[in-house]
Amino acid sequence: MQIIVCETPDEGADLVTREILRRLESKPDLVLGLATGSTPIGVYERLVRLHREKGVDFSRVRTFNLDEYIGLSAEHPQSYRFFMRRHLFDALNIPAANIHFPPTEGPELQRKCREYDEKIQAVGGIDIQILGIGSNGHIGFNEPTSSLRSGTRVKTLTEKTLRDNSRFYSSGETQPHLATTMGIGTILGAKRILLQAFGEKKADAIRAIVEGPISAFWPGSVLQLHPETTLFLVRASATRLEMLEYYVRTHHYHRELEE
Ligand code: F6R
Repeated sequence: MQIIVCETPDEGADLVTREILRRLESKPDLVLGLATGSTPIGVYERLVRLHREKGVDFSRVRTFNLDEYIGLSAEHPQSYRFFMRRHLFDALNIPAANIHFPPTEGPELQRKCREYDEKIQAVGGIDIQILGIGSNGHIGFNEPTSSLRSGTRVKTLTEKTLRDNSRFYSSGETQPHLATTMGIGTILGAKRILLQAFGEKKADAIRAIVEGPISAFWPGSVLQLHPETTLFLVRASATRLEMLEYYVRTHHYHRELEE
């Protein structure tokens, strides 16, 4: 894992966006794995700006979202399909046929989940996977104790995740307890993983996934097995890292080598 401690979330979003842009220039039909939640919004704002102001073309890009709630229609304001339209898709020129979400409806959900992973394989795999992390260490909705080789499937959300995400629901509104998520195995299949974590609420999870043992109890810890993963943190989310100063120094030397 490469760890970059940024001054601000904006700096993290700038770095992630810059890498996406660089890859897009060499591969216009880039395959992006996308996350929802508060963390990636800065990156999406920047991608929209690049398209509007600099004419960056997304017409050949393919996208696969990490997860979606079961029981919410695509028009529901809390659904991840709605979130993605609002923050990204409505403003970019990605053809609808290139946009994919994990299946959440109908019979044979398990088979459709397998087909989601097959679709990702069929386009050559995910080039860049954008990730956030839950305060319990989940990636996608792979909650603690998720199988480390899992494929896309339905998961039950933990109490902690429900509590963390309750801020998006008004009182009386029903919050879904189930979601379909890319599996941990699916995520590990991505060629490049860019995980952002901002705020002190993430500090325990960051400590566990970076410096703890690989464990299904902290699903993000599996990223220790992925050779092309970078974590974009801020001081607040990095405070519990024992080797923080080493990571800062390492990044400094790497930057010098690149210049
Ligand atoms: C969202 C997702 C989740 C979030 C995580 C952090 O698609 O897969 O794993 O990345 O819950 O959420 P925020 O960014 O809202 O703190």
